[in-house]
Amino acid sequence: MRVLLLGGGGREHALALGLAGDPSVEAVIAAPGNPGIAGVAELREVNPVDPDAVAALAVEIGVDLVVIGPEAPLVAGVADAVRAKGIAAFGPSAEAARLEGSKTFAKDVMTAAGVPTARAYTCVEPAATAAALDEFGAPYVVKNDGLAAGKGVVVTDDRAAALRHAEDCGRVVVEEYLAGPEVSLFVVTDGEAAVPLLPAQDFKRVGDGDAGPNTGGMGAYAPLPWTPPGLVDEVMRDVVHPTLAEMRRRGTPFAGLLYVGLAITAAGPRVIEFNARFGDPETQVVLALLETPLGGLLHAAATGTLADHPPLRWRDGAAVTVVVAAGNYPGTPRTGDVITGADRPGVIHAGTRRDADGTLRSAGGRVLCGTATGPTLAAARDAAYALVGGIGLDGSHHRGDIAAAAVEGRITLPG
Ligand code: AMP
Ligand code: GLY
Repeated sequence: MRVLLLGGGGREHALALGLAGDPSVEAVIAAPGNPGIAGVAELREVNPVDPDAVAALAVEIGVDLVVIGPEAPLVAGVADAVRAKGIAAFGPSAEAARLEGSKTFAKDVMTAAGVPTARAYTCVEPAATAAALDEFGAPYVVKNDGLAAGKGVVVTDDRAAALRHAEDCGRVVVEEYLAGPEVSLFVVTDGEAAVPLLPAQDFKRVGDGDAGPNTGGMGAYAPLPWTPPGLVDEVMRDVVHPTLAEMRRRGTPFAGLLYVGLAITAAGPRVIEFNARFGDPETQVVLALLETPLGGLLHAAATGTLADHPPLRWRDGAAVTVVVAAGNYPGTPRTGDVITGADRPGVIHAGTRRDADGTLRSAGGRVLCGTATGPTLAAARDAAYALVGGIGLDGSHHRGDIAAAAVEGRITLPG
């Protein structure tokens, strides 16, 4: 099959590697792609949030499957436009992508489906926000109601800062703070059948020890040695299947990748958020361990035949990825700096570009990820940091503690 992959970040580089490694995939065409993806795919230009333009490109190049990486094209209706041309699309409809696109919508679905999550209020007026903050108490959690590329959430003990964030956003969801380690669980679904991938953990804060502001994600590892037994089965039963049933009941089935962000609290797993696409950088580690060919799996989900797909096979061992971020990220990142040491297996490109003379330069906030597997989590971690240590990029920064607490057995479950 021929596959069009939409997007150009680290997640898409990992997806491109997985697709290109599938013997049933003859060609991967990526739009817009990036210099890393160019190693395994042909690159095309397209406006990713223009549904008609993407559908026209899919027709022009004659693909059998379109895989949509980021959330913005999904919310814009790209999957709908591709399917309207009779081409299979991996990714939910615009209606179903509201599970990510609107925090209020996601809360409504969770309430209707009986899914365990934080109690929450949607607030517009400052007085309502203040009342909600005071009901739940500190730490305060204030979320922009719309898409914010993982940066619309403020978790703080500073009540004034919480109120300021609410005012900046306009419409926010204020919710109860969930205490406990976080898990990202990716579920491939055709709307009815659902297959969980390995649980992973992301590191959202910019600095070591979870200091500083939230980012899109600074590193990840999988699998998670510390999760309670039966966690995935419990989440499939109590979260995923009720949510998929509620989406079918509303006439907007969710097909594609349901990303369940969880906190493992004293009372059990609680949903922090849903996303409608693979997470970045968790995808880098999850796909590094997936042995089952990726194209066949995504095609089955896109064509409603996931129930017939064989069980997933996973490599032994563990995977770790460490993000190298540009200076000043998650603020406005410094770009245009020369990158060295990036042309090695395991270096995943995110915000990079290549000059006509071949020079690689930074072009975004998260620039590269060093991704490695190993027989143990400790070995994978050492190998990922060795990759990162070989990368040169002026002004860049990365966390030094990705997967460290898990390697050292320091992650404890509350209660
Ligand atoms: P979100 O965009 O909803 O995933 O939020 C980004 C990050 O903020 C999450 O990964 C958590 O680290 C944190 N967060 C969001 N909601 C909560 C909550 N209710 N309790 C504790 N932390 C939260
Ligand atoms: N790693 C977090 C996200 O993709 O939203």
